[in-house]
Amino acid sequence: MKRVIVYPGSFDPVTYGHLDIIKRALKICDQLIIAVSSNPTKKSLLSLRERILLLKETIKEMKDVRVEEFDGLLVDFLKRKGVRIIIRGLRAVSDFEYEFQMVLANRKLDEKTETIFMMPTEAYFYLSSSLVKELAGLGADISRYVPKFVEEKLKEKISHAKSQKKTF
Ligand code: PNS
Repeated sequence: MKRVIVYPGSFDPVTYGHLDIIKRALKICDQLIIAVSSNPTKKSLLSLRERILLLKETIKEMKDVRVEEFDGLLVDFLKRKGVRIIIRGLRAVSDFEYEFQMVLANRKLDEKTETIFMMPTEAYFYLSSSLVKELAGLGADISRYVPKFVEEKLKEKISHAKSQKKTF
């Protein structure tokens, strides 16, 4: 039987930190489903379609991994897929409380669900999509954090948001 794992998130946008977790997850499963939430808790800069396209481009050379969107509860998506294991990246200590809360909430919703955590390489220990957006908004070089096509998309979205006087 194939071991399938779900890697859920907002991916607004995908970063090299996410890619690091994807590569690590592939070492312990036969198939990885990257599940992109269509209703992220935080306001997203990129549309669902854009977040998915950037992820697909990022993993296009990789085998045994696919990108899907999900709406509503993560546990319901897992049930539909017949998957029990969630994988999440764990970075600095600050992630812990949020992740702990999510594990407990998901377990209450469906006790069959298990979450496993993987730590990214140290270079990405403080990297987050929010940081990347903030740096890009201030004109900093983000090439060490995201692929070129993500950088280009972010710049385009940020200059559009600025022209509309929107926050991001
Ligand atoms: O990348 P993020 O924003 O930390 O990912 C959070 C995400 C999308 C995995 C989480 O918010 C989620 O699972 N949302 C779906 C709704 C849900 O199932 N909520 C209950 C568990 S917190």
